[in-house]
Amino acid sequence: MLKIQNIQKTFNIGEVTEKEIIHDLSLEIADGDFITVIGGNGAGKSTLLNLISGSLMTDKGKIILDEEDITHLKEYERARFISRVFQDPLSGTCPDLSLSENLSLANRRGKRHTLKRGITKQEKKAYYGLLKSIDLDLEDRLDDKVAVLSGGKRQAFTIIMATLLTPKLLLLDEPTAALDPKTSKVVLSLIDKIVKRDHITTLMITHNMQDALTYGNRLIMMDEGNIVLDIKGEEKAKLTIEDLLVRFEKAAGYKMNNDSLLLS
Ligand SMILES: Nc1ncnc2c1ncn2[C@@H]1O[C@H](COP(=O)(O)OP(=O)(O)O)[C@@H](O)[C@H]1O
Ligand SMILES: [Mg+2]
Repeated sequence: MLKIQNIQKTFNIGEVTEKEIIHDLSLEIADGDFITVIGGNGAGKSTLLNLISGSLMTDKGKIILDEEDITHLKEYERARFISRVFQDPLSGTCPDLSLSENLSLANRRGKRHTLKRGITKQEKKAYYGLLKSIDLDLEDRLDDKVAVLSGGKRQAFTIIMATLLTPKLLLLDEPTAALDPKTSKVVLSLIDKIVKRDHITTLMITHNMQDALTYGNRLIMMDEGNIVLDIKGEEKAKLTIEDLLVRFEKAAGYKMNNDSLLLS
């Protein structure tokens, strides 16, 4: 479904700080794959997602989505079918607009209409039903400004926005890193529920190894701009943190010893 072929990315070309971050990375992702991505700080995880979303352009290689070569499409063009969610709950929503206004914007992604048309009763009813179905007590807050939501509710709402028009690809960059463990679990469960319900092909970066094992059907570990582990299906389902550490050491040639990775 997504084919990444021999992509390369170098930052600061021609300067003393020039650094090749992604070397020659290839990856094939099947329709409906839910991939968790782990790796130490600076491994190139966010860069990989940035290259897929088009917020960075590759220097070499190709990115093909659903048979379409998107390598040279701009970020806003890819945004019609690729949704992103970041770590910061403050990004991804408009704080001064109400929940229903935000949903209405998400509903018009890639279309010309603006909010001027207003929100119809029918639309509001649909949003009410949608929010009720996710069971986070957001349905009675459709007229509240997003700014007044707690961090966790706001991030959950961001997930709803990002998936309102089912994207071909959902990219999540440490979506729960700013949340406390309990709230994080609620938001991860919501992600899992929506991804499965709508069969969305998903890449989720996490620094929490247990979350990487718990969610998804495939796990990728990155190190120094390379994919050093790629574990799927049954094998992933049986995997433990200890296995992962051993396999990382074998693949990368050194012991994982990184404070940025949570081991539980
Ligand atoms: N825009 C940029 N310009 C220069 N260097 C960058 C830029 N973005 C990331 N880097 C560098 O690329 C490396 C990988 O970063 P990143 O992809 O953010 O890692 P991760 O998300 O795995 O922590 C780091 O060394 C980082 O400093
Ligand atoms: Mg990152």
